[in-house]
Amino acid sequence: MVSFSLRSLILSATLAALATFTTAQTTLAPVPTPHPVQLDACATLSSKSSTSLTVEDVANCYKAVPFDSTVAASTLESVLTIFKDYYSFRDSALTPTFEKPFDAPPSDIVRRLETIGRTKYTSDYSFHSDVRAAVDSLFDAHSSYIAKCYNAYLFAQTITLYAPVTDGKQSVRVFHDFLDRGYQDCTVEKIEGQDALPYIYNWATKTTSFSKDGGVRLTEALGTQQYNVERNGTYTIYAGAFAQRATLPEKNYVDYELRCNSSATTIQLREDWRVLSQVNAAFNDVQSFKENLCLRDMPSAIENSPAQIQKRDSKKPKPERPLYLVPAPKKALLLDDILNAPPTQSTFGEFEDALKLGAGNGTAFYQLKSRPEVGVMVVFTHLVRLGDEVAQILTGLDTFNQLNVTNVILDFQGNFGGSVEFASVLTQLLFPGTDILDKTLPSDLRVTKEMQQAASALMNNTDADLFNAGSFIDLKTNSAFTSDSLFQHPITRVRNGRSSLYTELMTIKPLEFFPKLTEAVANHPWSDKPANIRILTDGRCGSACAMSCHVLTTQYNVTSYAIGGITAEPLSMFSFVGGAVATLTEINRLYELAGMESPVKQLPYNGGVNFPVVEVYARGSEVPLDFEPQYHRATHRLDYTTQNARKRDVMWSQVANDAWKH
Ligand SMILES: *[C@@H]1O[C@H](CO)[C@@H](O)[C@H](O)[C@H]1NC(C)=O
Ligand SMILES: *[C@@H]1O[C@H](CO)[C@@H](O)[C@H](O)[C@H]1NC(C)=O
Ligand SMILES: *[C@@H]1O[C@H](CO)[C@@H](O)[C@H](O)[C@H]1NC(C)=O
Ligand SMILES: *[C@@H]1O[C@H](CO)[C@@H](O)[C@H](O)[C@H]1NC(C)=O
Ligand SMILES: *[C@@H]1O[C@H](CO)[C@@H](O)[C@H](O)[C@H]1NC(C)=O
Ligand SMILES: *[C@@H]1O[C@H](CO)[C@@H](O)[C@H](O)[C@H]1NC(C)=O
Repeated sequence: MVSFSLRSLILSATLAALATFTTAQTTLAPVPTPHPVQLDACATLSSKSSTSLTVEDVANCYKAVPFDSTVAASTLESVLTIFKDYYSFRDSALTPTFEKPFDAPPSDIVRRLETIGRTKYTSDYSFHSDVRAAVDSLFDAHSSYIAKCYNAYLFAQTITLYAPVTDGKQSVRVFHDFLDRGYQDCTVEKIEGQDALPYIYNWATKTTSFSKDGGVRLTEALGTQQYNVERNGTYTIYAGAFAQRATLPEKNYVDYELRCNSSATTIQLREDWRVLSQVNAAFNDVQSFKENLCLRDMPSAIENSPAQIQKRDSKKPKPERPLYLVPAPKKALLLDDILNAPPTQSTFGEFEDALKLGAGNGTAFYQLKSRPEVGVMVVFTHLVRLGDEVAQILTGLDTFNQLNVTNVILDFQGNFGGSVEFASVLTQLLFPGTDILDKTLPSDLRVTKEMQQAASALMNNTDADLFNAGSFIDLKTNSAFTSDSLFQHPITRVRNGRSSLYTELMTIKPLEFFPKLTEAVANHPWSDKPANIRILTDGRCGSACAMSCHVLTTQYNVTSYAIGGITAEPLSMFSFVGGAVATLTEINRLYELAGMESPVKQLPYNGGVNFPVVEVYARGSEVPLDFEPQYHRATHRLDYTTQNARKRDVMWSQVANDAWKH
């Protein structure tokens, strides 16, 4: 048994700052007197049976909530304070252009939010949608604004798409037909009358803020095969952001033009959106929709916020509080659940060429049958209980060793992050020859006057990791700070013509890595040997996963393969490395702990603001890693094919055969 001092750092915190937002009250439009309506749109929505709901029903209700200038002013004040005074990347986000694989335009978040404050709205929904869109314009999955009442319904298509390459040509095809009408692998010629590939690519850029790389956004929009711990560790279909959304689609249906082998002519398919209620509070008109869903807590309606996961975790006897780097963890809800279709894992079955050796809650171990010297360690999340998962990994690696595995593929596909500490432990288990501190990244935090005050009060307070300098390593001494000096002597950094105060460079304190643990892994045939290790990602290795990926490739020279995106275009191996993500609620808790009034007010609506509060750098660089495309580009890229997209073992052998010639 491995035992750790399970020190916990929670950075699911949020900072808050003084809002100097004085114009909102006066410039926002006053509440319009509601028209006496015959038919209240939310009454109609609530009276309909779940199977007959349409996008229009939901849209009518959302749009019927009248603009409320008090709610708007106070929402905007909090969101603006966060992004003006606390967001790590406020100034970096102004970077005018990037080299490939990035293609994100600059975003002046402060100006965008201020513009919203001067805009006249008649609908509450369009105000909150605009705030969300402003935050999404950062193309930073760590940053989000959610008003839960406007995410109260899920919308699903009954087909999911993908973009495989056949004979060098990429086309959009049907990945899975949940109604089993025989559309699988039909070519999608058009969507909404436009050529399908550019249509989806542009849709992803307009709608998903997942990555600064358009190729990764494309993959995020489309269907993929995903390891699913909640389905007993089988691979299931993740529908993708296009086919399954919580945001309102533009209309009731999507029009597709399909070309199938079975038919000489093209098929015109009009697919209605299926609507699934996530509401668990009663409402029977516009007024009660606003009161019960927007203004009051709706505990489990949206179960995937970091706060919710934390709550779930805290039910465990001894809560471990990982340093969160999770943007918006993907929901367990799968399309087949929503549609009452047969479970999609049956589509994949067992992998012919891979034997499953075991699995934990963040990792799974396979051996290729055709090449038994190759083991695959799937790391599907970094959100794990450290001690348990490390024990599981040791067992997995030991099994590899007993089976004479010499080469290891690390599969990071669809890993949205988790604990920063796990990011360095994972790397340490593969490269035990140097210190675990070498697996951390130089980092800093933005500093405000209030934070300095809170940091003095919270020094060495283990309940307040983010504002407690004792949670961070002083790079001059390689040990934890013993005073709050980190916060009291900030540095001015000027980026894109704007200046902000940051702490000096430090790093988040990693776990103590005991000598016994080093002994356990030191003699593995792949340990400390980049030639024996390969990384496979789809670019959707985010946050803490991105940290592992960067350190392995840049500091330890591991070669990477990224699959997906647009054929022949460079592709990122990771996205939104961050630093640590914070929430407004957690920041308020920290100020309260310090005995101070928080400079950020709670949001009037149930929902939240997430944003990165720590930023990390590649060693020796002055530019935050999120803004350095050259460190994101994978060594090699792979295309999806009709085979490897559905059979992960096929994809693994492709990598093995390219990496390790017989
Ligand atoms: C359709 O026909 C083409 C050409 O014969 C073939 O390559 C392809 O695999 C077929 N697709 C399906 C889904 O059967
Ligand atoms: C879950 O998987 C394990 C091993 O992979 C298997 O033995 C067990 O029967 C599965 N359980 C269910 C409910 O499918
Ligand atoms: C995985 O999660 C289950 C359920 O919470 C727990 O019983 C088990 O110990 C965990 N295993 C690991 C390796 O963390
Ligand atoms: C691993 O290699 C050893 C030494 O060559 C051999 O004795 C053993 O049978 C092999 N084990 C497996 C599972 O192939
Ligand atoms: C914080 O804790 C460290 C380690 O226990 C100790 O050396 C240091 O003096 C403490 N600092 C303060 C300000 O309490
Ligand atoms: C890094 O790996 C590549 C490919 O395996 C190899 O050619 C190169 O020599 C390595 N570089 C260093 C500094 O080890």
